[in-house]
Amino acid sequence: MTTTFINPLTEANRSYKIAESCILVIFGATGDLTARKLVPALYNLAKDGQLPGHFACVGFARRPKSNDEFRKEMEDAITRFSRSKPIDQQLWKNFREKLFYLQSDFDEDAGYDELNKFLSKLDKQLGTKGNRVFYLSVQPSFFPTIVEKLSQHHLIYPPEMEKKWSRVIIEKPFGEDTQSAVKLQRELTQYLDEEQIYRIDHYLGKETVQNLLVFRFGNSIFESIWNNRYIDNVQITVAEEIGIGTRGRFWEEAGMLRDIVQNHVMQLLSLVAMEPPTSLHASSIHDEKVKVLESIRPIPENRIDEFTIRGQYGPGYIDGELVKGYRQEDNVNPQSMIETYAALQLYIDNWRWTDVPFFLRAGKRLPKRATEIAISFKKVPGCLFQSGPLAVDSNNLVIRIQPDEGISFKINCKVPALNNVIQPVKMDFRYGSYFGSAPPEAYERLICDCMAGDNTLFARDDEVLMSWKLLTPVLEYWKAHPDFHFPNYASGTWGPESAEEMLKKQGRHWRII
Ligand code: BG6
Repeated sequence: MTTTFINPLTEANRSYKIAESCILVIFGATGDLTARKLVPALYNLAKDGQLPGHFACVGFARRPKSNDEFRKEMEDAITRFSRSKPIDQQLWKNFREKLFYLQSDFDEDAGYDELNKFLSKLDKQLGTKGNRVFYLSVQPSFFPTIVEKLSQHHLIYPPEMEKKWSRVIIEKPFGEDTQSAVKLQRELTQYLDEEQIYRIDHYLGKETVQNLLVFRFGNSIFESIWNNRYIDNVQITVAEEIGIGTRGRFWEEAGMLRDIVQNHVMQLLSLVAMEPPTSLHASSIHDEKVKVLESIRPIPENRIDEFTIRGQYGPGYIDGELVKGYRQEDNVNPQSMIETYAALQLYIDNWRWTDVPFFLRAGKRLPKRATEIAISFKKVPGCLFQSGPLAVDSNNLVIRIQPDEGISFKINCKVPALNNVIQPVKMDFRYGSYFGSAPPEAYERLICDCMAGDNTLFARDDEVLMSWKLLTPVLEYWKAHPDFHFPNYASGTWGPESAEEMLKKQGRHWRII
């Protein structure tokens, strides 16, 4: 039996916000993200009836291409990457008519003039009312130029305009450290109000991440034990089997701390640790997330090696196949000191979390793809069940974000027999089998929310800045003190030994996934 799942967060917002008529302009539309994620997401929104009736998508990029060529490429992309397959020919026939392409350099005034004229023409033809979403899927160095040009060419308007609106979606990374993030924020806010800036972190669009708030604050049973009296430690893991693929050039500038920890992992941490918001409105939720980030104890600058671990993958085996090490990847310096693995131990100095370690880890070329949050509860007092067959493990609550989305809870149970033996058993809830359908892709939700003017699931400026403030000293220390043991873990293993050591010193260990 399948059940219709109503996400209260969605409904609370949807009751007064729906995607409005608009034109979505994708800067960098010839890139991977457009083909793999953005256009398949739009197609699925159309399929589910979530796309506004008056809508168009204009690809804007440097390579010359006709509308027809762009449409053909997008048809191939949807065929390959859409979550709903096979492509619905009737739907595609209508959908393709909403796709257009314009060629221009990002700093070329003539291109913006042409864009302006073209969008006005589409408004008249399609009834898109002058509303605009500009999706910047380009190298971050282009963000300020594009926004400046959009403003100069009257493509973005002041938020107080009543009849039409313009919003800008910015892909991560938002800056590369505190200083650059502050600078970028200053540059953008010369032309945009904070409420027009949608900083995308696609983890926030994942169904299981959205469910975190419902799980925590919609179930009194968990919230009452969600604190340092009951919880021993929290572990957040973002493990990937894949390496860096064709992104060597980007990766050499970024590394794991910037690519995944500063954004995705810190967002998960703030959702799992925040206090209950006063309402489900965006500002209440953002406020609580910021408070948690502000309460994280800064890592002492003279003890960074104690609280952080970095690693780089060498050659090894993934699914029985020999794969290259990071230094052998394309466009990577053969002596590179960039980390492909990062682990951190953090403490949140507030009433709820004092003394509870948060262990975070993210790595490429680990044995499997798994993103999860594991809450490990304190052991029971040792007087009854402490040794031999009567020894008990601590309870574990695991929120699996992907794959195999769900929640499991490990409890101790007596094995049915005349003797007394205790064994841990798992209560397991799986989204797929319970709700019977694949959840929407993160980008579907996020694009739809932006068209509806709802920025709850986007990162606010102070969240991003707090996260950079915490991590910038680590980045600086790592840069100034390269780790000459790199590569220090083989592909297909769970990262460097030192990451295990960090927990062992405290009598703890990483959860075996
Ligand atoms: C991106 C990172 O933000 O997230 C990639 O740049 C990473 O390096 C990806 O592979 C992981 O996303 P997901 O949704 O597959 O977990």
